[in-house]
Amino acid sequence: MRVPLLDLSDQYRALADPIREAINKVLASHRFILGSKVEAFEKAICAYCNAPSGIGVSSGTDALLAILMALEIGRGDAVITTPYTFFATAGCIARVGARPLFADIDPKTYNISPSAIQKCIEKNCQTDSGGELKTKSGEKIRAIVPVHLFGLCCEMDVLHEMSEHYQLDVIEDAAQAIGAEFSFGERIARAGTIGKAGFFSFYPSKNLGAAGDAGRESCGFSENTEWNGVISTM
Ligand SMILES: Cc1ncc(COP(=O)(O)O)c(C=O)c1O
Repeated sequence: MRVPLLDLSDQYRALADPIREAINKVLASHRFILGSKVEAFEKAICAYCNAPSGIGVSSGTDALLAILMALEIGRGDAVITTPYTFFATAGCIARVGARPLFADIDPKTYNISPSAIQKCIEKNCQTDSGGELKTKSGEKIRAIVPVHLFGLCCEMDVLHEMSEHYQLDVIEDAAQAIGAEFSFGERIARAGTIGKAGFFSFYPSKNLGAAGDAGRESCGFSENTEWNGVISTM
C-alpha cells in the first residue's frame, strides 16, 4: 500500500468554502503582507496560548532565528539541544554562529532528557573564574532549546530549575506542539509560553497546518519583564 507523506484532501474538502472565502477577502483587500488578518492571527494565538505577545513571521525556522538573534546568541556561544528533531533546530543555532551541544533524549518520550543535559554539562562544560558556564573549548553556554515532539511537552519544570541554576535561557521549540499543556507551578501552561520565548510552525503537515510554509513567532514579556512568549510561522 502506498502511504503518501502528506495527504490533506479530506481536511481541505471539509473546509474548502470558508478557506476560499477568507482568501478572497484578503485578495479583495489588497493587503497581502501583514495587515489586519495577521494582526488578528497574532492576537488569537496569544489569547489561545495565554502569551503576553506574539509576532507572525515566515516560518518556524525564521522564528527560531529571530529569537536567537534577539538574545544576541552567536559566535563564541553554545546552545544545548536535542539531536532528535527536525534539522532546523540545530541548524538555526549553527546559522547564528553558535555551537549546538547535543544532550540525549528520554527513550520513553523521545524528548530531551534533563538528566542527559546534566551529564552533558558535567562532561563538556566547566564554570570559569567569573562564574560563567563554558564548554572546555571556551564557548559560553547561553540557552537550552527543548523540542516538544509530537505534541508532548518536555519536562519543563525540571528544565526551568536547571536553567535558573545555570543561568541559561530556555527557548521552546514548540513547532510540533501548539495547544500542548504542561502543569507548571500553579498554572497549566501551554507549550511555547514557559521559557523565555517559544515558537510554532504552521507548515502544512503540522498539528495546525496552513496553506504554505506558514509559521508564527510570538514572543513577549511576562509581568516580571522577562521574555515569555511564543514565536512561530505563517
Ligand atoms: C521540531 C521542529 N522545529 C522546527 C521546525 C521548523 O519549522 P518550519 O518548517 O516552519 O520552518 C520544524 C518543522 O518541521 C520542526 O518539526
